[in-house]
Amino acid sequence: MQPLRVGLIGLGTVGSGVARVLTEHPERMTHRAGRVIDLVRVAVRDISKPREISLSADLLTDDPMAVAGDPNVDVVVELIGGQSPAKEVVVTALESGKDVVTANKALLCAEGAELFARARDLGRCIAFEAAIAGGIPVVHVLGQSLAGNQVTAIEAILNGTSNFILSEMLGRGESYGDAVRKAQALGYAEADPAMDVDGTDAAQKLCLLTQLAFGTRVTPEAFPLQGIDTLDLTDLQYADELGYAVKLLATAKLVDGQLEMHTQPTLIRHARPLAQVDGPYNMVALTGDAVGPTWLSGQGAGQMPTASAVLSDLIDVAIGRAHSTFSRLDLWDERPPIPVQPAEDIYRRYYLRFPVEDRPHVIADITAILGNHAISLASVIQHEAPELDDTTDTGTPIVPLVIMTHRTREGQIRDATAELNQLESIRQPWVCMPVSD
Ligand code: NAP
Ligand code: HSE
Repeated sequence: MQPLRVGLIGLGTVGSGVARVLTEHPERMTHRAGRVIDLVRVAVRDISKPREISLSADLLTDDPMAVAGDPNVDVVVELIGGQSPAKEVVVTALESGKDVVTANKALLCAEGAELFARARDLGRCIAFEAAIAGGIPVVHVLGQSLAGNQVTAIEAILNGTSNFILSEMLGRGESYGDAVRKAQALGYAEADPAMDVDGTDAAQKLCLLTQLAFGTRVTPEAFPLQGIDTLDLTDLQYADELGYAVKLLATAKLVDGQLEMHTQPTLIRHARPLAQVDGPYNMVALTGDAVGPTWLSGQGAGQMPTASAVLSDLIDVAIGRAHSTFSRLDLWDERPPIPVQPAEDIYRRYYLRFPVEDRPHVIADITAILGNHAISLASVIQHEAPELDDTTDTGTPIVPLVIMTHRTREGQIRDATAELNQLESIRQPWVCMPVSD
């Protein structure tokens, strides 16, 4: 068979990992693909930059469109990230008769509908295993292994950077800033790490999973979204004391014919598999109507785990499997969309922490407001104030009051919040986090 000629666009963290395997293990790739997979062109932004991988200088260009349109390239691997010029690269590659492999969840979440339809109309395919949960083969699992199921629930840890930061802060006592810098140095973070820590990256991946599992296109604006960037170590410690881990949890599940969706820091009981995922690892917990609960776990970020997913897509393109998978994935909006449940109807438990004045009637005032909104309390903790510490101008100590609620609607919590914010005894900011049982 003819070699599969690869044009690689982007030679950063992930691109270097892909190039390394293609150049250091060609026999492995040839064996698995049944033909030679040949790296013929590579586009970067700055040709003069020192690289961790040495490639022949005549492979390199700083013109990504030249690679996307090159008639001597069969498949384009887009690993530059972001929207532009990534979108133009993908469109040009498809229009030049090439298949595309990409890890770019930001692009697919924003422009997937147009790009997938364009690929289908042109008889090409887009393979994107690396765009969701790094090295975990969740696209293959949804498209092939669980294809006989209707997925009913997805609960997932989808951002390696956030999970790594949480583990570093609680497990090693690292500061938030140091943990972010470490995640960047290890190649887990996006070019703009704000996308990781504000929850955007996990929400984009959840939207792609929702499309694959439920055939419904959703954008991150449609559901509650919060990142780890506003978390306080105190809450990780309280959660731990209560028997929970805090994880950036992305959820999409069928509830009464609607999709309950959210991506937020969430308390998860220690005994659950999701609570035990540490460092840059991700987990996708899927429930299918036939298979039942299923857990997929592995490294969700980093050079070689992500390269692993790109390489499997390249092999799929080489043997023709990528086309059949692509044509059967639920990407075409053919099923009637499932409505997203309004946020105020979401029904779950909550963790609340109020910094309060340690004086008479404070707990009574707070619990009265919660009770008036039919919010039932599961537990209440108030530790004694440390002596000579954390006092107000008037000498009244401020202490944390931690409350776990029973299940309640988000709308009740919002209504109670408006009244709680009127209480002078509560210091801002107070904290409200959902609990997943
Ligand atoms: P990265 O380290 O920042 O690398 C980006 C590469 O693209 C660099 O080689 C850069 O060139 C090149 N580039 C950027 N703009 C370009 C342009 N206009 N023309 C030509 N080349 C350009 O990024 P990464 O971490 O490898 O991520 C790549 C993609 O994979 C992103 O979509 C990301 O979301 C996704 N992803 C990353 C991970 C991860 O763990 N890092 C995991 C899953 C998915 P220079 O080298 O010359 O600057
Ligand atoms: N920045 C992403 C993360 C890379 O930390 O999960 C993997 O998509």
